[in-house]
Amino acid sequence: MKAVHTIEEVREQVREWKKQGLKVGLVPTMGALHAGHLSLIKKSVETCNRTVVSVFVNPIQFCPGEDLDKYPRTFEKDCETAKIADLIFAPSPKEMYGEGHILSNDFLTYVIPPYFYTDKLCGKSRVGHFDGVCTVVNKLFNIVQPDFAFFGEKDRQQLIIIKKMVKDLNIPIEIVGCPIVREESGLALSSRNSYLTPEQKQDALALSKILFNIQNCYKKGITDISALKETAYAFLNKNHDLEYLEFRDEEDLEEKTIADDRTIVFIALRLGNVRLIDNVSLKG
Ligand code: PAF
Repeated sequence: MKAVHTIEEVREQVREWKKQGLKVGLVPTMGALHAGHLSLIKKSVETCNRTVVSVFVNPIQFCPGEDLDKYPRTFEKDCETAKIADLIFAPSPKEMYGEGHILSNDFLTYVIPPYFYTDKLCGKSRVGHFDGVCTVVNKLFNIVQPDFAFFGEKDRQQLIIIKKMVKDLNIPIEIVGCPIVREESGLALSSRNSYLTPEQKQDALALSKILFNIQNCYKKGITDISALKETAYAFLNKNHDLEYLEFRDEEDLEEKTIADDRTIVFIALRLGNVRLIDNVSLKG
């Protein structure tokens, strides 16, 4: 496994692989790799002949006041975690956006996903976040030109928006969604879990407990969304600041009036300054 930092280097390597007729997979990440990322890398290694992992903390997807500066950066450890991949692409912000663009987004061409997909769930409190995600993912797609790209279902709204972008813009890449990896406790793995105190980590279990309890109630035949939402309160205490608990369609994010097999239940809550998200498909 080799690490490169320039667009030219990654392009040269991928060109070489393509000449040999090899299928290339891309796993885009912001680093701080954990077992969730490793599952994406493994899936790519299984599916493709060569795997590129990008490690780039993308400044333009952070909103003002978010954790861009303190976002965990663990490059050496990431190289170790990703060692089954063939190439790590870890560009600098300057390599990706040029000198002038780092501080001023006014001079950058953006890929803006449809408002209907971004005015809800995480997009509601993180205005512009998905514009930053789609822009960088598009750039990574153009730089690496993979055949497949792998994204976690943990960021389900992101996955749905990226699939929509790929369809709308006829991008010739197959998007593969991979299941959430959880600790034994049920807590979904996230780079942001490293911000949690031991007490907050206990409180964080509420997310998966709420979701799995709702899934169980649905399996027992409850489809009334207000009734399903009500069940969440048993798991919440004064430390939980619930941002949303919503029932939406797995493909277009339309709000559900009645729970069905196409329903994804999305949750976001804050514990102190840490914002956590999780989701579950009702069909299990
Ligand atoms: O999911 C992430 O880590 C990021 O949003 C992504 C897709 C790597 C784009 O920066």
